[in-house]
Amino acid sequence: MRKLIVPSILSCDFARLHDEVNAVKNAGADWIHVDVMDGHFVPNISIGIPIVEALSRISPPPLDIHLMIDNPEQFAEPFIIAGKEHVEVLTIQVEACQLLYSTIQNIKSMGVKCGVSLNPATPLSVIEEVIELIDVLLIMTVEPGFGGQKFIKNTLNKIERTRELIDKLPGHKPLIEVDGGIKIDNVKDVSEAGADIIVSGSGIFKTRDYFETIDNMKKIISNDQV
Ligand code: DX5
Ligand code: ZN
Repeated sequence: MRKLIVPSILSCDFARLHDEVNAVKNAGADWIHVDVMDGHFVPNISIGIPIVEALSRISPPPLDIHLMIDNPEQFAEPFIIAGKEHVEVLTIQVEACQLLYSTIQNIKSMGVKCGVSLNPATPLSVIEEVIELIDVLLIMTVEPGFGGQKFIKNTLNKIERTRELIDKLPGHKPLIEVDGGIKIDNVKDVSEAGADIIVSGSGIFKTRDYFETIDNMKKIISNDQV
C-alpha cells in the first residue's frame, strides 16, 4: 500500500479552519487528522463534536479522528455520526478504554476503520488479544496532549517491533500509524521503521508552503513503499 501523509489540524489556524483544510487538501493530504482532547485523559482540551460536524460539511479529505479522551466507549459513536461518511478511521487510546473488545466491535459495526493508540510508555503486548480485529495501530511518538512537541527517539524501536509483529501475523494486518513530532527531517526514519500512515501537525502547518512540504515528505518516503 502507498504510505499516507496526514496533516493534523491541531496546528492549523482555527480562525481559518475551512481555508486551512482546503489548503492541505489541495496540497495532497491523504487524510486529515482530528485530535480530540477532553482535559482528563490529557491535560488539554481541543476539538469536539460540533467541529467534526462542521468539518463534514466542507468536503474534507477523509477524517482520521483521534480520541484522546476518557470513556471512549460512550463517545466513539457520536463522533462517527457527526463526521458522517467522511470518517475514515476512529481511533481510541487503549489506556482509556475499559471495554476494548466491544468498543472495537461497535466502531467497526458503524462502517469505519477502528484504530487503537498506544502512548509511548504503553507496551505493545496490551493489544495482543485484539490485534487481528483492528484496522490501524497508532504508535504515539510523543506524549499525547499538545502539538509541536519533540519526537521521542526511543519510539523508533517500538515502531520496528510493531512492524515485525504485524508482518508475522498470518491473516489480517493492521496498518501502522505514527503521530507526534514528525517533520521533514525525521519522516524517513519513521517510514523506514515501518510506518504506513504518517501524521504531522506543526511539521506541515508551521511551514510556509504546504504543497512543497507534503510533496517533499512523499518524495522522501517513496522508496520505502512496498
Ligand atoms: C498529540 C496529537 C498529535 C499532534 C501532532 O497529542 O495526538 O496528533 O497534533 O502534532 P505535531 O506533529 O506538531 O507533533
Ligand atoms: Zn493525534
